[in-house]
Parts: sequence; C-alpha cells; structure tokens
Amino acid sequence: MATPGATVASQEEASDLRHKLERWNHEYHVLDTPSVPDSEYDKALRRLQALEKSYPELWDPASPTQRVGAPPLEAFDSVAHPVPMLSLDNAFSDEELAGFLRRVKDRLDVDILPELVAEPKLDGIAVSLIYRDGVLERAATRGDGTHGEDITQNVRTIGSVPLRLQGEDWPEYFEARGEIFMPREGFEAFNERARAGGEKTFVNPRNAAAGSLRQLDSRVTAQRPLEFCAYAAGEHPADAWPQCHWDVLQHFKSWGLPISAHARRLKTLDDCVAYYEELAVERDRLPFDIDGIVYKIDSFAAQTELGFVARAPRWAIARKFPAQEAMTRLLSVEFQVGRTGAITPVARLQPVFVGGVTVSNATLHNMDEIARLDLHSDDSVVIRRAGDVIPQVVSVIAEQRKSQAAPIVGPSSCPVCGSPVVRVEGETALRCSGGLVCPAQLKAALRHFVSRRAMDIDGLGEKLVEQLVDRGLVRNVADLFALQAGALRDLERMGEKSSNKLVAALEAGRKTTLPRFIFALGIREVGEATAESLALHFGSLEALAAADTEALETVPDVGPVVAQHVQQFFASPRNRAVVDALLAAGISWPAVAPVGAEDGPLAGQTWVVTGRLESQSRDEAEALLKSLGARTAKSVSAKTSVLLAGPGAGSKLAKAETLGVEVIDEAAFLQRVGASS
Ligand code: IVH
Repeated sequence: MATPGATVASQEEASDLRHKLERWNHEYHVLDTPSVPDSEYDKALRRLQALEKSYPELWDPASPTQRVGAPPLEAFDSVAHPVPMLSLDNAFSDEELAGFLRRVKDRLDVDILPELVAEPKLDGIAVSLIYRDGVLERAATRGDGTHGEDITQNVRTIGSVPLRLQGEDWPEYFEARGEIFMPREGFEAFNERARAGGEKTFVNPRNAAAGSLRQLDSRVTAQRPLEFCAYAAGEHPADAWPQCHWDVLQHFKSWGLPISAHARRLKTLDDCVAYYEELAVERDRLPFDIDGIVYKIDSFAAQTELGFVARAPRWAIARKFPAQEAMTRLLSVEFQVGRTGAITPVARLQPVFVGGVTVSNATLHNMDEIARLDLHSDDSVVIRRAGDVIPQVVSVIAEQRKSQAAPIVGPSSCPVCGSPVVRVEGETALRCSGGLVCPAQLKAALRHFVSRRAMDIDGLGEKLVEQLVDRGLVRNVADLFALQAGALRDLERMGEKSSNKLVAALEAGRKTTLPRFIFALGIREVGEATAESLALHFGSLEALAAADTEALETVPDVGPVVAQHVQQFFASPRNRAVVDALLAAGISWPAVAPVGAEDGPLAGQTWVVTGRLESQSRDEAEALLKSLGARTAKSVSAKTSVLLAGPGAGSKLAKAETLGVEVIDEAAFLQRVGASS
C-alpha cells in the first residue's frame, strides 16, 4: 500500500537527515572531531523529529532520534549500564519551556506545578560512578546509553572525584552520575602550550575533556585539568533513599561528591525564566562552559509517574542557551603587524551571531594554526566565542570546500610597508623586517611610547596616531616633540583647545624617569620590571647603550634572549639616532643613584646567593650587591668570594665548604652591607 501521508520527497529528506545525523553523531561522540557546530546538528535533528511526528509511518527503530550517543570504542572494556543513561529533550525558548511544564501538569493531572530543581547544563562528558562500601569501584562513559566504556583508571586521576566517600550514611551500593568537564582556563592554557609546541589543539573544552578521558594511559589524563560535578543517581537501593532529587544532591554533597553551586529549587514558570536569565548573564563569567539549564521535577514519585519516552525522561528538560559555536564563511585573511613586527593572521568572516554577539573577525594565532586548520579561501568555518575569549576559528568544514579554493599562505612581504617577512628559527610568528620604517610598527611603537606606564603623555589616541603617521607628520617617536599646535589643528577632530593641550602634554612629558624611558623605547622583551632593573644596574642610558651581552646578563632577570634584544637595539644606528633625537628634544630624568660597579665597597668581589632570605628576595639581594660593586654569579666556583646562604641551601653550600669559600648568613650579610652602604 502506498504511504498515505508521507510523500516521496519527505521520505528522502528523512533518510538524508538520518544519514547526515548518523555521521555527525559518530564524528562528535566517537571521533571527537565534530565537523558541524551543535546548532547545526540540533537543527537537523529537530527537522527529523518534526517529520517523524507528522508522518508516523516514517518511524524507524534505527533513527538517530531513537537513540542516545554512539557505540563505544573497543579500546576500553565495555560495561553495561543496569539503568540506561538517557539524554534530555531540549527547549529553545520560554514558550517551549512553558509547553514542557504544561505537559507535566497535564500528565500528573494537577493544577499546581510540582516543585522543580534547576541546575546549569554543564558542557562536558556524562559519566557513571559506582560506589561500593563507600569506595569508587567503577567509572564508565555513557556510550550508547546501555553500554559504555570502563574508564575507572582515568577517572581516579580526577581530583574532584572522591575515591572514598565522606561520612557513613551512604548505601552499600549506588551509582552517581554527573559530568566531567575541563574548565576554560585549563583548556586555554592547554591549547596555548600545544600551539607553542606545534601539537594538536582541541576545538573546545568539551572535546578536550572527551579526548582526555579517552586516553589509554591514565598518566596523560592525570595531567589534564578535569573536574567532576554530580547531577543524578543511577542504580540505587529501593529503600533508605531520598524522596526527591534535591535531597539526593544534598546527600551527594555530604558524601563529598561535588554538586553544582548553582542548583536551586524553583516553583513556577516565572522562577524558571528568571533563573535562566540570571545564568545567561553569568555564563560568560563562569570558569567553565555551560550550554543551558536543566529543569527537573523534584519528586521521585512524580518522576516515576511521568516516565520516559524513547530518548529522554518526561520529567526533565534542557533549556538551551544561544550556541557558542556557529558556522560561517571565511571572507579573507588579513595579516596584522604588531609593535615588534610580529604578523598575526586574522580571519574576516561573514558576520554571524554567536555566544550572544555578532562576530565578524576571529583570531588565527599564527601560520601553524592556519596549517592545522588546513584553511583555504572561501572556506566554511566553525567559529567559537566563549566567555571573554577572542572569537576563534575552531575547524573547517572541508566537505563544503569549493574546488577552486586555494590554501591560505603567509605573506612574503609586509602587507603594510613591503619589507621582507622573516620567520625566526624556533618562533611560530612571521615578522616584518622593516622595524620602525614600517608604519604599522611605528604606530604601535608610538602608542606604546606615550602609554601611561611609559612616557604617560595624554591626548594621543589611536585615531590621532594614525593620522600623524599616515600624513607623514611623525616618522619616529622623537618627531612627536617637534609637533606644533598649528599643524595639529589641521587634523580631523583636533580643535584649537585639544591641539594646545597636546602640545602642553608633550612639553610636560619631557620630564620622566630612566626606567620609564627605557620601557618606552619598546625594546623586545623589556617590560616595566626589566626596564627598572636595567636602569638601576647601569645608572645611565650611556652605560646601558654601551653594555655588551655579557654585562647585560649580570642584571637580575636578564637572560641571554633579553640581553641580545637590548644589545641589538642599541647597535642599530637608526635606533641610536632616534634616542639621540629624543635627548636633543629635551627628554630628561633625575639621576639614578650610581651603581658604583667600579668603585663600590664590594668592587672586585663575586657573590653567590642561595637558600631562603627573610628580609628580601634573592633578586633584591643580588641587586643590592651589584649596587655596591660586587658581581653576582649563579654557581659557586673557586672564584667565588662569598656565598650568602639562607635556610634550605643545598649543593651550593656543600660546594662552598669544599672549596673553602667564605659562607655568611643573612644576619651577617645585612650587617656587612649595612655597614658598607
Ligand atoms: S540530567 C535523565 N543534569 O546533558 C537525565 N544532565 O543532553 C540525565 N548534562 O547526558 C541528565 N549537565 O551529559 C543532567 N545538570 C545536569 C546536566 C546534564 C549536563 C548533560 C548530560 C546528559 C546530557 C543530556
């Protein structure tokens, strides 16, 4: 008999959707490499659900709408779940949530809604934990809902999973269920390290948690920042068990099982909506990803009465937040040039609404990341925006690639100034070799130069710096001080008042301090603290400029890399000319107390500092010694004059004693330097 309702077209559509969903499901649940964002999956699934609802004859026991998750991998032992691990139905609006609550009341045949419990829906991996005699016996993944994988060894490495329960009143045997997830900070740090080491990154914290749990070597899992939060019971004794979900959570808590700090008891639809809105605001500030709110009918008697449908319980629903991942199209890749010439690729995107904002740019980090993504022109890409993190391109949908698409390659010349682009050994970044000839580097250098912690000159905002450079009024930082109010007045948004004000700020800004001036020069790797150490150590700009790398490396915190950057900076005739011009423009600072390296009371001595000091840090003690003319070294040798040893001194102390080097403690040290300074 011909199917009465379903047309051939809808049969084909359902079949296509099932194939697609089946494949996406496998990629997501088994391979940990989703090729489409969740929102795309949800959309297709809802379409299939709608089709199956309108045409019951399309029903198929193997439909993705009928099952939970995917079959387990073979690498771990397969374990059976005595109580199936189910999924949740979703609500995407307040109306859908209201519909759910109405159905609950109808099915229970009550006028007043029973109490609910709301919890954040954590975006991680569902696990089952079996406790026997208060000890964690087995941990398993959800798998296909009836069979999962035994991941006990891996779960044992997670700090927030109790290996032994607290208290005494737990039943002899029960199963706790919850989510294992990776907090955002740990996820970002993991990816940052992976990127620096040229290793594989994870697309989101959920996949990082899944990948970490699927490690056959639990020592690898132990290194991953995973956490657990319990949200339900599985198998449990029939008697001596709480009557409602809330009480189960409180028992869990008292047994040492972590539960959500946000779990709350609610009574009405309005309560539910208010809770959703509260969490939606807090979402970005939470240290972990959540993708919605789970509302559960609290009473177990009511839960039993409501029962289940194929895919999910009728007593719970997940109200989803707007997706943090979305699909869009790559329009172009722009290469931006930073202050130090580092070139950062940025993806220009077809604007897309994701994580509550419209995103049209996303960072691509560096060329290695572009290679990892295998990014091509015009690609369909998955964008992720979570928390305050800059939007990222997490993956490329290769199957949608156009045949004429070309791989994205880095520029061989600077997109701003045309100077050759270089790739430094051991660095992931491409760099423009143009230095301050490059307008992009010059603009960034100017902004840094005038910034509050550097020369602290007010009134030179981004737009103004742009104009000054683009119109050729400023070719280097020293040119700033030659600016006349007259010339400034011709610029956009510059009236007489602001022009005069800026000239006055530049005038006042000529008086600074040596550390600020050194910091303002923008030497690579020289931050505020290093600038301060350099100023204190050398006492004058001339001495710093004349220092070789060996002399530079004796400064606390200055290693070979920083020493080289400083030395190279002053070795450049162009930089020297700018510094001279700045001094000629009248930049000045109060004299820094001379370090007296040549004529200090400890001149000619070499000191080593080791162990814990109480009055100051080791770095401070070294700086003090240097200011008195001593040299400091990191290891003890026959040339060492004195070893300053605090408590906890080890091999250096032993060596000094063997070599007959003088050893003094902190009190003796303070007496000596106090007497000599
Ligand atoms: S209750 C029978 N509560 O969401 C209902 N699930 O799509 C059992 N999830 O498999 C689930 N946070 O991995 C529940 N507070 C929470 C949850 C939560 C996250 C996950 C869980 C589940 C999936 C359902």
